[in-house]
Amino acid sequence: MICRGCHANGEHDFWEFCDLGVQPLANTLLTKDQLLEPVTTYPLRPMLCEKCMLVQLPDLVSPEQTFSDYPYFSSQSATYVEHSRQHADDLIKHFLMGEAWRREHAGGEGRLVVEIASNDGYMLRHFIRGGIERVYGIEPARNVADHATKRGIPTFVDFFSSVLASKLVESKDGLVTGGRADVIIANNVLAHVPNLSSFLVGLRIMLAPEGVVSIEVPWLKDLVDGDECGTIYHEHLSYFLLHSIEYALTGQAGGLRVFDVEHFPEIHGGTMRLYLCHGSAQHEQTERVREWQSVERGWLVSAPLHHFGRQPSALKQAVWSFLLSQKVIDRYVCGYGAAAKAATVLSYCGVGPELMPWIADTTPAKWDRYLGGTQIHITTPLALTERRPDVIWVLAPNWIEEIKSKLRDQCDWHPHVAWQDGTEIRMERL
Ligand code: TYD
Repeated sequence: MICRGCHANGEHDFWEFCDLGVQPLANTLLTKDQLLEPVTTYPLRPMLCEKCMLVQLPDLVSPEQTFSDYPYFSSQSATYVEHSRQHADDLIKHFLMGEAWRREHAGGEGRLVVEIASNDGYMLRHFIRGGIERVYGIEPARNVADHATKRGIPTFVDFFSSVLASKLVESKDGLVTGGRADVIIANNVLAHVPNLSSFLVGLRIMLAPEGVVSIEVPWLKDLVDGDECGTIYHEHLSYFLLHSIEYALTGQAGGLRVFDVEHFPEIHGGTMRLYLCHGSAQHEQTERVREWQSVERGWLVSAPLHHFGRQPSALKQAVWSFLLSQKVIDRYVCGYGAAAKAATVLSYCGVGPELMPWIADTTPAKWDRYLGGTQIHITTPLALTERRPDVIWVLAPNWIEEIKSKLRDQCDWHPHVAWQDGTEIRMERL
């Protein structure tokens, strides 16, 4: 195995600190006809590279396999949509309207914003609305990209890499491509990238001299401290600290540097937003970066991954005791939110339709499909009012407040709501 971040490949460079068993891809959703067919499973054992502290899974599955028909639509969560709107407004205000841009572009051809993994266009539409002249997205999942195109957002169906970056920068198609970008956004994509070096080099190629790359990625410290083992699944190849990203940027993929960092504990279980620029650019490194580096150093010294390795089995016990206690008193339990993390937790814990017959989800692409590992049926939220379950287990605990408020409006029979909090299952009356 070769480390995706620093290219270490020694036998003693990796530590397998946690075992989540053998599972299908978390986003495998089966049709009824596929229920009798075998499902491919893969071991799920994350490893820490002890040189650069990148937690990673080997890339057993090709990105084409994962993203050919991807059921994830960013616009499903109002919290996330609002977070993205604010993010876009901040980027416009700080980096697209500022003095630096004006100096660089006096008489120039207009600002260019590129989003990598632009999904259904949930983010780029704000730049178009904000009057940015040239905007385009790069999204490998055609079914998702089609939604963006229908919204009028130019979208290239492809995986980002150094080769693609050169092609787009040099393109003379007279449409939106060509030239380097003033702002590049790469949210929730880095974890999926098998060739991290090519991706980081691609950012360098595509970025204008004083441009800014804005990256959002779940922070390993939040994942570990919050016992969020459900977010470890095959589609997430890497789990980052600022340290491991800076390490990668000093190696083969050098040329960019991190000049600022922000923390969003409520997004995807804890997200860091990094701002990168060229090594020679004028953006000064903020005090926040130095503070963050020192927090990570202190945290790593406390050996948190030793403790984390025990969490999956503790969670399994909590899930079983919760579900059996509800069964004993004859409560009807359903799920809400067929998230990839839900598929991982249910499959690891061995919870099937006998304990949870169905899961409601607002994503039409998931309706009438079945989770690949456990064959639980996914249906529309209308099923809640039709079947009036006693307990609704919210399987996307990262959106718990938003979902609780939706359920309060919909469920006038006041069912109980349960959700995972670390290795515990919490429950309250709605
Ligand atoms: P999410 O936690 O965003 O991601 P992942 O799949 O990476 O773990 O997935 C949330 C799922 O929950 C998604 O299928 C959409 C669904 N959902 C609802 O059904 N209703 C809601 O109100 C929200 C916020 C999400």
